[in-house]
Amino acid sequence: MDVGTIARGMMACSSSHASGCPMQRPAPLGRVQPIVKPSSAVLKLQRRSRRSAALCVQATVAERLEVSASPYIHEPGKGLGFYTGTDGYLYVDNLRIDDIRAQVPDSPFYLYSKNRITANYKAYAAALEGLEHFVGYAVKANNNLPIMRHLQSLGSGAVLVSGNELRAAEAAGFDTTRTIFNGNGKLPEELRLAIEKGALINVDSEFDLENIAEAAKAVDKAARVLIRINPDVDPQVHAYVSTGLANSKFGIRNSHLQWFLDRVRQEPLLELAGVHSHLGSTITKVDIFRDAARIMIRFVEKIREEGFDIKYLNIGGGLGIDYHRRGDKIPSPADLVNTVRDLVADLGLTMILEPGRSMIGNASALVNTVTGVKTNGNKNFIVIDGSMSALLRPSLYDAYQHIELTAPCNGKQDTFDIVGPVCESADFLGKERELATPKAGDGLVVHDAGAYCMAMASTYNLKMRPAEYWVSDGELKQIRKGETLQDHLRYFEGL
Ligand SMILES: Cc1ncc(COP(=O)(O)O)c(C=O)c1O
Repeated sequence: MDVGTIARGMMACSSSHASGCPMQRPAPLGRVQPIVKPSSAVLKLQRRSRRSAALCVQATVAERLEVSASPYIHEPGKGLGFYTGTDGYLYVDNLRIDDIRAQVPDSPFYLYSKNRITANYKAYAAALEGLEHFVGYAVKANNNLPIMRHLQSLGSGAVLVSGNELRAAEAAGFDTTRTIFNGNGKLPEELRLAIEKGALINVDSEFDLENIAEAAKAVDKAARVLIRINPDVDPQVHAYVSTGLANSKFGIRNSHLQWFLDRVRQEPLLELAGVHSHLGSTITKVDIFRDAARIMIRFVEKIREEGFDIKYLNIGGGLGIDYHRRGDKIPSPADLVNTVRDLVADLGLTMILEPGRSMIGNASALVNTVTGVKTNGNKNFIVIDGSMSALLRPSLYDAYQHIELTAPCNGKQDTFDIVGPVCESADFLGKERELATPKAGDGLVVHDAGAYCMAMASTYNLKMRPAEYWVSDGELKQIRKGETLQDHLRYFEGL
């Protein structure tokens, strides 16, 4: 479907949505989205809340605006990324999400704000000013091609964990000499490709170094390598996203550093370009980056003493985002860089950061449709069409992602688990959430779904991977087609 012009013809929702929950997905009315003045909208919501004990989540949030200036509430059409309008509807950039739902044939679907991605990249670029640096976007977080193309056009490099990610990065236009190939199990053919393309390669273990040396000989080209060191600083995150401890499956045994240096020295086609570390993901305390940088600098000094002229200090990615959308103080890229700036400024090294989540996470939401509401025992469930197949993080890590209805709703306020249709009890998107009781057809978004969501989506239960759209300078565009059953059946043709 060509949706390039959808935004220009974007339709307003039925006015009944403002006072109640629509039974059906919103139907276009054929006029341009009206912008409601915040003061009158807030007053209206306050009047309604006085009339009804059952407050809508959106109304409650909008009322709080007057006292707390939440970063997630803005005048309709005036915010960046995903926010609640002071009219109680959810928006992305200038567009009402219910209007987008009315135009998009798919549900669930991923929706992005391109301007938010730009702002996220620029926050890193600005934070690193004054330091020799490059930013490597961690493609594992989200490998959508237009998104990758956009980030490279802004000046980003790329961090890759497979040969296919390297090929995709090249297809997206990344300069492959500004990419880093990471991983504890890189395959010989992937290493040959990385060397041919001039990528920096992280050395993860003794066997990995041997494989890199072999690959360099096979393609007769020097391999530029970084040694991945585990600073053994606890990132204080979920065990599944902690990567830099002494017992981690990633990185070298630090006590064996000398073996790695000697081995590199013996191999003319190995060029030791720097050191790398990655502590983990969802990090919300930047002082651990300072602790890690201090440790890494000791390694740099030791390596230089051994006569190696190294050029790069890569301190990884890992910054968290405000998944609870409470306006918590999450460190910014500037906070991260400023924590280590004085330590690294005079080292004569190019600093590399590898953000994934903080680049793309808050730039997207999974937009779903409510299938129905049910109660079993003492549990209420909102059943939606999205599921763990489309978005796995809650099932995988028990991760919290904030959930909201897309429109004001007068249904009874209650506590719900939000679950999908997949045949697993682990199929939930959120637990114990306070929401107004929606009706079938209402819109429900799972926020902060840009990172490690679509990238981890599967076709479990033959729930096909969703389509993706972004809002680009005010216009809605499709940036990935939804998968179809025909795509699946193709794998069996001609066997
Ligand atoms: C080596 C490496 N670099 C960068 C990243 C990106 O991390 P994040 O998305 O938390 O910024 C990861 C993710 O785990 C990683 O393993």
